[in-house]
Amino acid sequence: MFCWLGRFLSSSIGKKTVMAVTGLSLVGFLCVHLLGNFQLWAGGDVAFNEYAAHLESYGWLLHVAEIVLLVLFVVHAGLALKIAAANRAARSVGYRSRESMGGSTPGSATMVITGLVILLFLVIHVIDFRVPKLAGRIDDLALALRERLATPAGAGIYLVGVIALGLHLSHAIQSAFQTLGLQHPRWTPIVKLGARALALVLALGFATFPLFLFFGGGR
Ligand code: HEM
Repeated sequence: MFCWLGRFLSSSIGKKTVMAVTGLSLVGFLCVHLLGNFQLWAGGDVAFNEYAAHLESYGWLLHVAEIVLLVLFVVHAGLALKIAAANRAARSVGYRSRESMGGSTPGSATMVITGLVILLFLVIHVIDFRVPKLAGRIDDLALALRERLATPAGAGIYLVGVIALGLHLSHAIQSAFQTLGLQHPRWTPIVKLGARALALVLALGFATFPLFLFFGGGR
């Protein structure tokens, strides 16, 4: 069993499959996270804080979900870096044109760099909110969010993170479907369009927070 798993993970298709599954799971998390954050727009600070308190009421279950989330991020990023290093080594041996690999888009050409920006953004983001919340230093999460995103530095960091996320997802979601073999001559163009639309909705949705809280002045 472990032998089979080891062989699967050491193959290129195995790594790509695990990346696709972890990546799509992270997209699922992002959809839920965005819907949760939208409580701020739909119901104001009270609704947002009530939603956060509701999540906390799950206690240890929430912590299990957080550990699963962390594992998904680490596995996804770790495999991405491994594949990028292997591709770089292969390119130094023999040149393969981008065209022969199916052409390139701004999203596909910048996957590693946008992935690294997202990783850096995530570290800052978790230090901004989750760590102080766990340490009991944040009582009013909505207020903390408004204060952080009302500053030029805060809004700037969040905008850069969200732009990187949009670019990354514009290629990643459709690529994951392709890796998993979910292709059909008739449906693939629709899936590609839907994947790009979802990437745009997520990026624009998250961007409303730095944009509105900065230009709206936080309060
Ligand atoms: C730009 C708009 C965003 C806002 C306003 C926002 C807001 C928040 C807040 C307030 C928390 C703390 C929740 C709590 O402690 O109850 C949080 C946690 C988190 N956010 Fe975001 N977020 C944004 C974007 C993102 C993006 C783009 C990602 C991923 C790429 C992300 C990933 C996370 C993660 C992993 C956590 C920790 C979840 C946990 O441990 O429970 N967030 N976010």
